[in-house]
Amino acid sequence: MGRKERSLLIIKPDAVKRNLVGKILAQVENAGFKILDLKMLKIKKDKAQRFYGVHNGKPFYKELVNYISSGSIIPILLEKENAISDLRELIGNTDPAKAAPDTIRRNFALSITENSVHASDSKKTFEFESKFFFNRKKQ
Ligand code: CMP
Repeated sequence: MGRKERSLLIIKPDAVKRNLVGKILAQVENAGFKILDLKMLKIKKDKAQRFYGVHNGKPFYKELVNYISSGSIIPILLEKENAISDLRELIGNTDPAKAAPDTIRRNFALSITENSVHASDSKKTFEFESKFFFNRKKQ
């Protein structure tokens, strides 16, 4: 058995609006992830700008910030062996048209912006992103 690792998944506004929360959580749990914590909230533009700060200056930055602050989101703290890479594989390519079959984005996403979910892409990103939503250490 390898060491357990944590990652952060965010269910984005397009998926919450289309009542896909249960289906996405089921796919995550069926893939072996343990849900340690989750919440539903809306973020204002300034927080969205900080969360997606690495994309500042890119052509899609403004649309991305507007979109992620346009409705409720559900950040979820997950645990599993190899959680970070396994979750990236489970969600699939950023562009749903390029995502592999049965990935979350292939199953549910509408477009590269309305792509239903976000997942941390590295340990460092996880440490940065999880602090936006969860401050407690979960056992
Ligand atoms: P996410 O995984 O949340 O991380 C950054 C987001 O930027 C990404 O999902 C996409 O929604 C968005 N994004 C990345 N590349 C592009 C692009 N070329 N055009 C529009 N949006 C993009």
